Amino acid sequence: MPHTLPSDEPQNSVTHATQDPSRAPRRSFLGGLLAAGAAGVGALMIVPVVRFVLHPVLAKTTEKSWSDVGKVDEFHTLTAPVQKLIQIEQLDGWRRTVSQKPVYVVKDSAGQLAVLSAVCTHLGCTVPWIEKQNRFICPCHQAIFDPAGRLIGGPAPRSMDVLPMKVEQGVVKVQYQFFRQLTAKKEVIA
Ligand code: FES
Repeated sequence: MPHTLPSDEPQNSVTHATQDPSRAPRRSFLGGLLAAGAAGVGALMIVPVVRFVLHPVLAKTTEKSWSDVGKVDEFHTLTAPVQKLIQIEQLDGWRRTVSQKPVYVVKDSAGQLAVLSAVCTHLGCTVPWIEKQNRFICPCHQAIFDPAGRLIGGPAPRSMDVLPMKVEQGVVKVQYQFFRQLTAKKEVIA
């Protein structure tokens, strides 16, 4: 059996190094620097994750988007309401949906372009324009509106709803809104 002889050499040079009082502060400084760097990188990485998770909470729910209706030239010679289908985007939590809504481009009493919601103010049926009678007539309960969307008769509590519109670079744009039904006062609900 071989025997290991005791040696005069120091058994562990690291022991000596750690015992060197002049090196200890430098090590702890480097360790602190590394820890601070790692914490900084971690914080930078966590910010986008937190923003992603909280997006539905932080998103501006009041932000409204504008939908294209058509080129303004198309409506200069308007003599009767024209129905247009517009695309609207809705954000419901994480879900973004795109849908189409009918609107009417009309001339108001001052001869200015206006965009009307096609939703009946009574119970929400889609109101068609009846060319022959020069009226909007709701098929559900016969509410009647003139070519500018003003209430003439029937159970509807108010005229057809006018939507916010603007003309930008020759294009008519509308901000689609949903209104409370069965109330005389126009009230936006979404
Ligand atoms: S829903 Fe239009 S008149 Fe009732």
